[in-house]
Amino acid sequence: MHGDMARILYSSKDIQNRIQAMAREINEAYPEGDLVLLGVLSGSLLFLADLARALDRHVILDFIAVSSYEGGTQSTGVVRMLKDVSVSIEGRDVLLVEDIIDTGLTINYLLENLTTRHPRSLAVCALLDKVAARTAPVPIRFTGFEVPNEFLVGYGLDYQQRYRNLPYVGILKPEVFKLPQA
Ligand code: IMP
Ligand code: MG
Repeated sequence: MHGDMARILYSSKDIQNRIQAMAREINEAYPEGDLVLLGVLSGSLLFLADLARALDRHVILDFIAVSSYEGGTQSTGVVRMLKDVSVSIEGRDVLLVEDIIDTGLTINYLLENLTTRHPRSLAVCALLDKVAARTAPVPIRFTGFEVPNEFLVGYGLDYQQRYRNLPYVGILKPEVFKLPQA
């Protein structure tokens, strides 16, 4: 698995340091009370787990799942809700937690959808921001790193469901994309 990487962009240590700083920002931004951390499955799983542990406050953990990539490396632009929220978000502070914002299609769909449930506040927290790939503006309140317009894997990000368990974020060797699917 590690041998498939061309380059490591953010080491495990880089990521953990950045998350500590983001957690301080988030702690200060919200009043006391429950903050709903709404993770977008599956990519946000590792980030959400580390972010939640870095936050010194009450949080409620919940997840939603959407599908927009259908296994490739390009956004299809079609977003489908595969799993909705489990808790009521009405009147609550909600922080939507994403691994990466690419075109922005997924997050804009989710923001529009979740707004109709009348949360008290709704904001986006993304570990990675691929600014150059944006097709429509996205209001990101908390950002980890601005990344180049390349296909990244690791720390939640997958290529054909693989590499999510890498503790770092990196770029795959070009030949990995040419291998037949396992
Ligand atoms: P968007 O709708 O184009 O912003 O895509 C958002 C989703 O696509 C993210 O939540 C990721 O799951 C996935 N994605 C976007 N860029 C990458 C990447 O470079 N590597 C792996 N997954 C990605
Ligand atoms: Mg994904």
